[in-house]
Amino acid sequence: MAQHLAEPNATTILSDDASWWRQAVVYQIYPRSFADGNGDGIGDLKGILSRVDYLADLGVDAVWLSPFYPSALADGGYDVADYRDVDPRIGTLAEFDELVEALHARGIRVVVDIVPNHTSNLHEWFRRAVAAGRGSAERERYIFRDGSGANGELPPTDWLSVFGGSAWERVDDGQWYLHNFAVEQPDLNWSNPEVRADFVKTLRFWADRGVDGFRIDVAHMLTKDLTEPLPSRAELELIPRDGKHPLIDRDDVHEVYAEWRAVFNSYDPPRTAVAEAWVDSARVPLYARPESLGQSFNFDLLLADFDAAQFRDIVTSNLDLAALSGSSSTWVLSNHDVVRHATRYGLPKTRRDESGKTLEKAGNDWLLGGGAESQLDRERGERRASAATLFLLGLPGSAYLYQGEELGLHEVADIADEQRQDPTFFRSEGSEIGRDGCRVPLPWSAHGASFGFGADGAHLPQPGWFAEYAVEREEVDPASTLSLYRRALALRHALQSGEQLGWIETGRDDVLRFTRPGGWQVVTNFGSEDYPIEDGANVVLSSSGATDVVRGESTVWIAP
Ligand code: NOJ
Ligand code: CA
Repeated sequence: MAQHLAEPNATTILSDDASWWRQAVVYQIYPRSFADGNGDGIGDLKGILSRVDYLADLGVDAVWLSPFYPSALADGGYDVADYRDVDPRIGTLAEFDELVEALHARGIRVVVDIVPNHTSNLHEWFRRAVAAGRGSAERERYIFRDGSGANGELPPTDWLSVFGGSAWERVDDGQWYLHNFAVEQPDLNWSNPEVRADFVKTLRFWADRGVDGFRIDVAHMLTKDLTEPLPSRAELELIPRDGKHPLIDRDDVHEVYAEWRAVFNSYDPPRTAVAEAWVDSARVPLYARPESLGQSFNFDLLLADFDAAQFRDIVTSNLDLAALSGSSSTWVLSNHDVVRHATRYGLPKTRRDESGKTLEKAGNDWLLGGGAESQLDRERGERRASAATLFLLGLPGSAYLYQGEELGLHEVADIADEQRQDPTFFRSEGSEIGRDGCRVPLPWSAHGASFGFGADGAHLPQPGWFAEYAVEREEVDPASTLSLYRRALALRHALQSGEQLGWIETGRDDVLRFTRPGGWQVVTNFGSEDYPIEDGANVVLSSSGATDVVRGESTVWIAP
């Protein structure tokens, strides 16, 4: 194989390029499961700080930190009790500053997670709202209503929370509050100017500390029209999602983001934002516009099968959407909410609904009950995952990677009920396995109590097979997934000299081939039969290791 020696990144300080985000590789850290600096079993900022070299060697352009704020962990930290502090179990503000400085010194930007749809029920505002009683200004920061039924003993509506069960919870004086997610995550009232002002304060708080960008949780659900009478669940489902739906993807949410945009643009370089917005494709550009958040996640590849036709359609439609908004597209195969892609691709098939559409979180079912894990073809999953990742990293736009995928890590199916943490598991009474399997602490070494994660145990159990995926082992193995990711990220800067993509017809339904500026080419073989490449092609990267041919379920990069 044409050996590429990854050269150390010459730029050790941040460039002043305001469009750094357009084609960035952003590495998602789930802080509680990345590295444990003080040995209490929970990942922390000290742990991340001790692994800054690892991140720099990997070659990422930015890290996105999932919530590290004070939280009772009813939803893995997405239940925030204080938006302007660090959970004492994770660190201190001084350590946060130190981490930002260390990352910046290695040329790595920092993105933090903002959770504006709901607070934790332990947030000072919510405690005061409960204490202050009905009709109070404190309750106006949330969404409180009287119940239905003769004595208000029934919830105001039959709406369901995303995690299962009623979307309303009753407090002692009999009123009910809305929670679209867990009971411990009361929805905020975005009609209240105080709520708006407080989030501006939060954005400035982190931007002033040097944070470069923000990932906005549930960006499509903040504003609501709760004019009485409230519709029933059945009625809600019939209302088109065209910007006027009472709960989802309302046009007026962009008034909030226009205000945030002014905040972002008051910094030099402007702070960036990416929306987590599960909305119809046609409405994604509204979030990705430069006047709004500027970029939006595209989860299409994450929901797709390992399939050439699906991948090609997704790329074409998302590049078109990005062009509409003037933003760049985003690509993601794994994150903290879904079954890791190495595992998804190694399972027999994907679940679909009656219309043939892939169902969200496909793969979960196969991992239910332990037995199904035996159906997993680990090697095939990893082979396909590497092929898909090199395909994704070759595309124009920014790539979001999730911690552990660079090791080819699989989902952990085998977690005892009493060790599970995800509210989806509990609220669905175990019928949904939940998201803990992709949140198990990383293996840094092949030996030791928690595979080098920390001095002692890990807060979720790590299986014995984690040893095979340890950073320590993969780092010295040129054929490992980690080595492949490192080479790809080192080469990627040259491949990303512009944002154009052109398809080359391959004469095969199961092979995709495209060009990038300067004459780079990416070829992915989704089938099983080899695809020949021209003699003399300068193959600089190959997920199978072969350079004269594109093997089944593999990708090659051809340099000019
Ligand atoms: C999306 C986050 O990614 C997920 O982890 C969380 O449970 C929900 N938003 C609610 O905040
Ligand atoms: Ca710790």
